[in-house]
Formats: sequence, structure tokens, C-alpha cells
Amino acid sequence: MINVKKWVGILALLVVFIFTGSAFTRPFLSGKAAVMPVYGTSPAEGSLAGGSPGNANGPSYRESDMMHGESGIPGRKPALLHRETGKVPDSVLSKRHFLEVYKVLMSPRCMNCHPSGDAPLQGEDSHIHTMGVQRGLDGRGLYALKCTNCHQPQNTPGLHMPPGNPKWKLPPSYMKMVFQGKTPRQLAAQLLDKTQNGGKNKAQLIDHVTHDMLVASGWNPGEGRALPPLTHKEFARQFKLWLDKGGYLPD
Ligand code: HEC
Ligand code: HEC
Repeated sequence: MINVKKWVGILALLVVFIFTGSAFTRPFLSGKAAVMPVYGTSPAEGSLAGGSPGNANGPSYRESDMMHGESGIPGRKPALLHRETGKVPDSVLSKRHFLEVYKVLMSPRCMNCHPSGDAPLQGEDSHIHTMGVQRGLDGRGLYALKCTNCHQPQNTPGLHMPPGNPKWKLPPSYMKMVFQGKTPRQLAAQLLDKTQNGGKNKAQLIDHVTHDMLVASGWNPGEGRALPPLTHKEFARQFKLWLDKGGYLPD
């Protein structure tokens, strides 16, 4: 005997499964490489924010995300986060972050040590260093005129006195790391080029702008000198976001 009730039940279940099945199975089938609709400011937060498999209501937006965006740029909606790394290439955002970075790189506190010529620059107007100071092969000065004759391990107090740092020097003449006169596109390309940046990969570049002593000295420039336009922390954050979003070159 065929049990009609039983078969009707099974059929009904099948119909329900076919209609909803794709929603249940898609997250599992798409596997590791899937970009989940996860919204958040970090991978860890993101995966709590509604990206679990089978979340029928879709991604959940949090107010903080709507206001600041994952990018930290006001008015920009949160971008999709890659489930594994939290890094999704986004050329528009990436370029925009570099333009923030560029403002700092071109400020006198950085550019004065990244000149296009073979003499350091000085002052808010980035005029050529007085007293005929030259780069020299290793960036520490030419002949007897060494940087550390005048630039001490710390700032010398007083207006127009030499700023100081234990590492004070220019990049060497075989790798000048020129910022002066570069467009955003040219400078971004140079920073990413291992033959021009001291062999640094992306992680090492981020580490350099976050922890290097000479970079940090830009925010402790000595009396009477203006600070770069962003804080050091914000600069390092924008630099990292530029690379995390793909390290795109501005147009
Ligand atoms: C003879 C002394 C002397 C030597 C040598 C010297 N400097 Fe200076 N440097 C100074 C003085 C003084 C100032 C401050 C000038 C001022 O503020 O008007 C200065 C300022 C600077 C500035 C400007 C800092 C800023 O934030 O604007 C840079 C950059 C600089 N020196 C780099 C170097 C480098 C690199 C070398 C070696 C290649 C070097 N200097 C060698 C005396 C010297
Ligand atoms: C006293 C001179 C001096 C100052 C001031 C200075 N730099 Fe540099 N910078 C160097 C030297 C020397 C190197 C290369 C050696 C090294 O890696 O430490 C370098 C390397 C770099 C690099 C490595 C990659 C590349 O391609 O250029 C970056 C990025 C950088 N500096 C950023 C900055 C920023 C940002 C500031 C300002 C906040 C700054 N620097 C201020 C001397 C300076």
C-alpha cells in the first residue's frame, strides 16, 4: 500500500528545499575563496557583522559603518571585505588614500631630505641647504662636511638650529628616493619599485612609515618648524589603506 500522507509530506519538503536550497547551499559551495557580504572595520569585526552562512536577512549594517565607511572616508559606503584578509582591492579608495599620503610626503619635513638634487633642502620654502652641504655617496655628506658635524642625535634647542636624529642623513647617491617634483602617480610608482625603495615589499614599506626614526622625526622637527599636514598615526593609517586596497597609482 502507498502511504499517500507520507508521500505528500516528502513532496512538500522537496518543494520547500528546491526553493530555499540555493540560499542554504551557496555559502558552503562557494568555499574559501568566496567574498562574503561582510561589513566591518576589520576582518574580525566583519565576520561577526552578519556574514555567517545562511543569513537570510542579508548583511547587517551597523550605524558606525554607515557614517564612516570601512574606508574611514566620510560619506563613502562600506566596501566588501575579503573574508580571509579583510583586504579588497578598490582602485578609487586606494588612489584617494595615496593622495592623503602624498600631502605628507611633499611637506617640507619629508621633502627636505628627499630632494631631486644632491643637496638637502631647508625651511618651509624648501630652499637649498646653506653652507654648500652635499649628499655624498652614502648620503652622510661630502668630504669634511658631514651631516653629523652639525646635526646631533637630538634637536639642538633654539630657532634655526639643526634638527637632530641618530640616523640623520640623505638617501645615498645610488638610490636617491626623490620626492621633490614628483607627481602623485610618479611617486607612488617609485615607492612600490624595489629597485628604487631600498628593496622593500609592501609590509616593509608600511613598517618603515610607521616605525622608522627619520620618518618619526618629521613630527619632532625642532623649534619654529611646521608639522606635516596629518598626524603620524593618521599618515601611517592612510599609507596602509593605500596598499591594503591594492596599491593603485593615482591617474
Ligand atoms: C655646517 C652645519 C651643517 C651641516 C654639515 C649639515 N647641516 Fe643640515 N642644517 C643645519 C642647520 C643650522 C639647519 C637649520 C637651518 C634653519 O632652520 O634655518 C639645518 C637644516 C637642515 C634640514 C632642514 C630640516 C627641516 O625640517 O626643514 C635638513 C633636511 C638638513 N639640514 C639636512 C642635512 C643633511 C642631510 C646633511 C648632510 C648631508 C646636513 N644637513 C648637513 C646645519 C648643517
Ligand atoms: C634626515 C633626513 C630624512 C627625513 C627628515 C625624512 N627622510 Fe625618509 N628617508 C631618509 C633616508 C636616509 C632614507 C633611506 C634609508 C632608510 O631606509 O632609512 C629614507 C627613506 C624613506 C622611505 C623609503 C622608501 C622610498 O622609496 O623613499 C620613505 C617611504 C620615507 N623615507 C618617507 C619619509 C617621510 C614620510 C618623511 C617625513 C615624515 C621622511 N621620510 C623624512 C631620510 C629622511
